This record gives sequence, C-alpha cells and structure tokens, in this order.
Amino acid sequence: MTESLTLRRPDDWHLHLRDGAMLRAVLPETTRHFARAIIMPNLVPPVVTAAEARAYRDRILAVLPEGAEFTPLMTLYLTEATDPEDLAEAHAAGLVTAVKLYPAGATTNSAQGVRDFDKVRPVLERMAEIGCPLCVHGEVVDSDIDIFDREAVFIDRVLDPIRRATPGLRVVMEHITTAEGVDYVRANETDLGATITTHHLIINRNHILVGGIKPHYYCLPVAKREAHRLALRAAATSGDARFFLGTDSAPHTDAMKETACGCAGCFTATNTMALLAHVFEEDGALDRLEGFVSLNGPAFYGLPVNDATLTLRKGEAAVFPGRIDTADGPVTVFDPGFPVHWHVDP
Ligand code: DOR
Ligand code: ZN
Repeated sequence: MTESLTLRRPDDWHLHLRDGAMLRAVLPETTRHFARAIIMPNLVPPVVTAAEARAYRDRILAVLPEGAEFTPLMTLYLTEATDPEDLAEAHAAGLVTAVKLYPAGATTNSAQGVRDFDKVRPVLERMAEIGCPLCVHGEVVDSDIDIFDREAVFIDRVLDPIRRATPGLRVVMEHITTAEGVDYVRANETDLGATITTHHLIINRNHILVGGIKPHYYCLPVAKREAHRLALRAAATSGDARFFLGTDSAPHTDAMKETACGCAGCFTATNTMALLAHVFEEDGALDRLEGFVSLNGPAFYGLPVNDATLTLRKGEAAVFPGRIDTADGPVTVFDPGFPVHWHVDP
C-alpha cells in the first residue's frame, strides 16, 4: 500500500481569488500547495483590459504570504468590446496567459460576458494566430434549456461551431461536468483540453438535494447525475493528458451561500490535494495523480513543469478547517462527506 507520494508541485488551472479582504484571506490556501494558478477575471467590475490585468496581478502579488513562491497567470474577461491588439500585446508580454469566455448571464458576475458570438470573432481569430488559449464556461443560458442540459447543448450549439470557424484556436473546456464534455474532448485530437474540479469528482446532484438542500455543494455548472460523475472520474484518472485540474475554488461568504438566493461556488483550495489523493487512490490511479495536477496542464499551456515538489502522506483521518475567516465573514471549506487520510507535508 502506498503511504507517501511525492509529486512535482501542482498548478491550479482555474481559480477564483476575488479581491480585497477576500483575496487576502483565501490566497494562502492556494499558495500553500500550488505553484501557479489561472486567475479568473470575474471581479466586479471584470478584468477586461491589459491594464486591469496588470493592476489585479499587482494586488495579488502585494498580499502573497511571506516566502510563498506563487505565480498568478492572468486572464482577460472577454466582452464584445475586447480589443484584439490590447490582448495580443499583453499576451506577447507574458502578462496575460488566456482569455475567459463567459456567456452573458451564465454564472457569477457574467453580465458583461458574450451575447453575440459573432461580435467576438475578430478577437478569437487573433487568439488563434498568436496561440492564446480560450478558457470557456460552457453553458448555454437559454431559459428553455434545462439547467442539467446546459453544458451538452453548449457543445453542440456554441463550442463546436466556434472551433470549426476558428481553426487553430486552443480551447480549454472548463470545469466539465458531463459525459458529453468528456466525449467531446476525447473526440478531438488537437487544440482542446478540459479542466475538472475536485468537487465534481466527489459529488453528484443527489448530494446537493437529497435530505435537505446543501448550499455549499451548489456551484455552476451544477453537479449532474452519478453516471456523469463516474465519466469525470474515469477521464481524470485515465492518464489522458487532455484532462487536468482546475479547482474552480470559488469563495463566497456563508451569508452569501446560506440564503434564499445563494451564490454558486465550492471553496476547495484548502483540501483539494488531500481529496484528490483519496479519489485517485480509490480508483487505483495514484500513479496518475501527478499527470492530472502537475504535468498535463503545463503541457497544454506550453509552460515548463514546476521544479519544486509536494509530498502527500497517508495517516490518521485528516481534520480540515471547517471555515476560513475573512474580514467579510467566514467561508466554508468544501466537506467531502467522508474521512480522508491523506495529508500534505508542510
Ligand atoms: O460555481 C461557480 N462559481 N461557477 C462559476 O462559474 C463562477 C464561480 C464564482 O465566481 O463564484
Ligand atoms: Zn470558475
């Protein structure tokens, strides 16, 4: 039985850090284990221009914990007014790693996202030319589409047409939640990858709804039925390099989650690595954990893997903090609902 596991230091290819007091409180939860993260731009107001990305990056670097070695990889929030030249310059300068596409209305702070995909065609074409990846929140927002079908419909109606119209555009399907998402990635050899969250490997929709509503399990895309969770587990643990970790760790205060209209987001930064070791061990794939968390993402983004390492050790049942305190109020840490025996070495 494996009792310890040393990996190249992992990266998080999809992370929400927010700003101000929340940023200060949650940043150490990520920098403790991760060397880099793709930082989501859905602030209020969103990070749309290169200048805004630079300012946000500086705010993150200003509150890095003492001694932390962490590189925030910045993204721009795609709007119908995004300037292709501003983006191209920022990408060439290494300031911006990727662009994020939110369909308008799909999720938290997406109101300024894209309504008319034809309007962003010039930006997407420029991105294909310069090799800047597009990170996609893949859900349609049409009110007649059932929320559990929104990802599968997005693939057919939006994503596949965009990819066909923009050869060479590198796309990350973010936080995939369905077997259709897994199949679409598998069917496309080039220019396509997908991130998978920790929580979508652990919960299905029953966890949210059976025995009382669990606001801390509510996120977007919402967790689907069990067959989909199993498809995600199979993809993540398969060793297929097109799948990699993006936690989508998304802090909201308890007051914003435990209310009549609660925000979407699971906060998993604190315990993600221990939970993933549990999941991969359960599926007999501990030897593939490093690929998923440390190797496949850099390969997709064309970045070097990290030199530093991280060691996981198996022992007593781990006790994770239930909440992270912030000046805005407490943020509940994702509770997997089962004992976890993996610990990350300090
Ligand atoms: O659950 C989610 N939370 N999904 C998203 O797409 C956005 C995120 C957030 O910003 O809270
Ligand atoms: Zn997200």
